[in-house]
Amino acid sequence: MLIAGNWKMHTTPTEAARLARGVAEAAATSAVRVAVCPPYVCLETVARVLQGSDVALGAQDVHAEDEGAYTGEVSAAMLQDVGCHYVILGHSERRQYYGETDASVNAKLGQARRHGLVPILCVGETLEQRQARQAEAVVRDQMAAALDAHELDDADGLVIAYEPVWAIGTGESATPEQAQEMHAMIRQELQSRYGRALGDGVHLLYGGSMKPHNAAELLGQPDINGGLIGSASLEAESFAAIAAAGAEVVR
Ligand code: PGA
Repeated sequence: MLIAGNWKMHTTPTEAARLARGVAEAAATSAVRVAVCPPYVCLETVARVLQGSDVALGAQDVHAEDEGAYTGEVSAAMLQDVGCHYVILGHSERRQYYGETDASVNAKLGQARRHGLVPILCVGETLEQRQARQAEAVVRDQMAAALDAHELDDADGLVIAYEPVWAIGTGESATPEQAQEMHAMIRQELQSRYGRALGDGVHLLYGGSMKPHNAAELLGQPDINGGLIGSASLEAESFAAIAAAGAEVVR
């Protein structure tokens, strides 16, 4: 079970240090793997705070090239050097506001893996797509495009987060049944792409308004192996409560 916090564009380095300390204290004793993904400028500070704890560090995006004249961008080598283990890729906010495409996600995924970072690949449909009964096809296509030409030899080298766009930041989570149904489809896709053992081993996270009150039910589904948490990860107590719900499930 992996519980990862996506802090998005929240926290100054000072605030991030405080939050990371809270997470390290509250969540690190839990039986689940815990990770936080702060903004770039907070990574170094948070890495220092997390030193010696079991909480892993992740970034929210990465550039597809090694280095070069790409003003404002951050490379995989930089993330690796600052202590990141994970990197979120293809988050719907990046797809929606920053022109992230399936092709750029594919390139970034390769780049992340070449530098030893574990991608948390985000997929998910919009409300219109769900209402048009296209949700599964959309998610299947996003996965196929992102994973095309990428081999996997270790299930720990990839994490997939199913995040229905209509559930992100809205307070309206997918039902456990809706989430499980999609996760089962994602699991099947992984099995047919990488074989049964690897497909079974990849962590599938649910994201979209996961909170302390609904975490147990969501995390209790057979193909849900964790959560990608936005707003509820900005307070150590609520984030730790979700991690505790996960720990109950794996107990
Ligand atoms: P939320 O965000 O928990 O605030 O809905 C989840 C995400 O975008 O990763």
